[in-house]
Amino acid sequence: MPCYPLVVATQHVMKLGRTTLLAAGVVFSLLTLHCAPHPAVTPVSASAPSAPIGSLDDLMGGLAAAAEPQFAKIGQATFSDAELAELTRVGVRVQADGVKAKAFSRGAEFDGFAARLEASGKALEEAAKAKDPAASSLALANTKATCDACHSTFR
Ligand code: HEC
Repeated sequence: MPCYPLVVATQHVMKLGRTTLLAAGVVFSLLTLHCAPHPAVTPVSASAPSAPIGSLDDLMGGLAAAAEPQFAKIGQATFSDAELAELTRVGVRVQADGVKAKAFSRGAEFDGFAARLEASGKALEEAAKAKDPAASSLALANTKATCDACHSTFR
């Protein structure tokens, strides 16, 4: 997009008076934004927690793939270090998806479930990092209960 003619045109409009000047200022800012070099887009793998999400279905698909295999461990008395590392990773993912779910809000109750998901993910991350099996199991159970509660109302 050629930027120079736009700058000249904007300066021309600026002679016309205060209101026009303000409007021209806005237009000019928008044009300048458009002219500015676009930030580099870093490709992100589809499974990364920070991947852009196109729909709630997509978000749920990724969340389920990450979280559901862990639900079999609810009630487990001990966890290996590898399992705890995995639970930490899943806790981080659940938190991030709780935040992202709000982009698909269906009202205050939905947002409440999304916030609960975020909190249970955080509890899972912290319990697994602390290598606390009882708290890890409880946080997993709370996460699963949150999935189910939101689904019974909104799915
Ligand atoms: C804040 C509410 C909410 C929470 C919390 C939630 N979900 Fe969902 N989920 C939904 C809704 C709504 C749908 C239906 C989406 C649609 O039809 O667009 C859905 C759909 C799904 C689907 C079907 C996706 C598909 O491809 O059709 C799966 C699987 C799923 N959720 C898993 C989970 C898991 C696992 C958790 C917990 C770790 C969870 N969800 C937590 C609201 C939620």
